[in-house]
Amino acid sequence: MKIFLDTANINEIREASSMGILDGVTTNPSLVAKEGRDFKGLLKEICSVVNGDISAEVVATDLDGMLREGRDLAKLDDKIVVKVPLIKEGLKAVKCLKAEGIRTNVTLCFSPNQALLAAKAGAYIISPFVGRLDDISTDGMDLIEQIITIYRNYDYDTQVLVASIRHPIHVVESAMMGADIGTMPFSVFTQLIKHPLTDIGLERFLADWKKVQQ
Ligand code: G3P
Repeated sequence: MKIFLDTANINEIREASSMGILDGVTTNPSLVAKEGRDFKGLLKEICSVVNGDISAEVVATDLDGMLREGRDLAKLDDKIVVKVPLIKEGLKAVKCLKAEGIRTNVTLCFSPNQALLAAKAGAYIISPFVGRLDDISTDGMDLIEQIITIYRNYDYDTQVLVASIRHPIHVVESAMMGADIGTMPFSVFTQLIKHPLTDIGLERFLADWKKVQQ
């Protein structure tokens, strides 16, 4: 499973990238707004650090606007994947952008039928939001299982990107189900590394080593 960071913070991206396990980045308007920086400049910097797909979202909700913004974003770097919302005009945009060779990530997916339509329209990536479903007492991971089954049944090559990941169990379950990508906040990425027994074990090794040195 590819591991993406769901952030627009360049320091977090640099830190994860230095470990050699960062496969890409997803951003959204809320994450970009938090950084208070010029959008295109920020995207260019992210592209210079990460060797993988970088999702950048349009904010228009009409077809012409989405196409205009999508073309503009795609021009910035070959790594850019244009993120469009899963609405009627968004599906039209996916079809048009695909015809122009521009890859799309269809975001705000909350049902298997939405995911089916996105794949049929030609999405490069589908982004189901698991955490936000959990928030309303619906098991978000059930949606991932459904989408993977549907895509396998019909050999769709749209990649399933598990979005709105909130904790490490979401990551484990995504990998067990065979999701293509998991995108997560830096805090969850860091949690994946940690294990209390690793820390205790290391502490013991170092203490024993110290005794021999004395
Ligand atoms: O970027 C889309 C998604 O991952 C957002 O997550 O935590 O705001 O639901 P969250």
